[in-house]
Amino acid sequence: MHDDGYFDERVAATYDESDPEMFDRGVVDPVVDFLAQIAGGGRALELGIGTGRIALPLARRGVPVHGIELSKAMVARLRAKPGSANIGVAIGDFATTVVDDRFSVAYLVFNTIMNLTTQAAQVACFRNVAAHLEPGGCFVIEVGVPDLQRLPPGETIHAFHVSETRWGLDEYDVARQGLISHHFEIVDGTVERVSIPFRYAWPAELDLMAQLAGMRLRERWSGWKREPFTSDSRKHVSVWEKPDPGDGVAS
Ligand SMILES: C[S@@+](CC[C@H](N)C(=O)[O-])C[C@H]1O[C@@H](n2cnc3c(N)ncnc32)[C@H](O)[C@@H]1O
Repeated sequence: MHDDGYFDERVAATYDESDPEMFDRGVVDPVVDFLAQIAGGGRALELGIGTGRIALPLARRGVPVHGIELSKAMVARLRAKPGSANIGVAIGDFATTVVDDRFSVAYLVFNTIMNLTTQAAQVACFRNVAAHLEPGGCFVIEVGVPDLQRLPPGETIHAFHVSETRWGLDEYDVARQGLISHHFEIVDGTVERVSIPFRYAWPAELDLMAQLAGMRLRERWSGWKREPFTSDSRKHVSVWEKPDPGDGVAS
């Protein structure tokens, strides 16, 4: 693996075009609305800020945003965009990197908690976030519910995208809560492959990680427009709060 992690120059060069739907205003605006409301006039910290898909429109909304990001190649793409000069970015691992500031909201979207491939690293991430939040501040995660109901007994491969020129296959290791997302694409007549390892976690395990970090669940939805979270939900948007000892209800 490169210093930039799995989002190296090759991935960064096409990141904004590889999943154009995720850059649609119809997708981005509800995320920005949700985060701006939770920020409540305070500052925001994005873990895995990438090329600024969410950070730039959130900053344009008037929320000061700071980022943590492993990949210099992704940050170079962010820096090439108007408005990025107002966004500070610390290069490093968001499970451990310290930013000398406090925030009213920290957020980790687009399944990126799963990029931490051990339970210990995911727990460290929750603790790192809690240390960066003001009392009463919130941690927001958007992540898929593990897709195991779609995996027949004995199978390890689930196809999540099949088209003429692109195929996406998730390869599960159920015993380890691991999966590798394999992306294959025909580019200029040859097949290019990117394979990225993840660790999936159920919502209840994330709640326990929050508890270990001194936070508690405040809201859980199946989408950014506060759609109800049910047994059929494919993803969740969860908000954990760092108690404010001054509000008289700290646990
Ligand atoms: C799927 S992209 C999401 C980027 C951006 N948040 C978005 O919504 O478009 C995941 C990003 O997280 C970064 N990343 C993954 N693991 C990381 C880690 N442990 N520490 C810091 N950044 C990480 C990757 O380099 C990549 O830029």
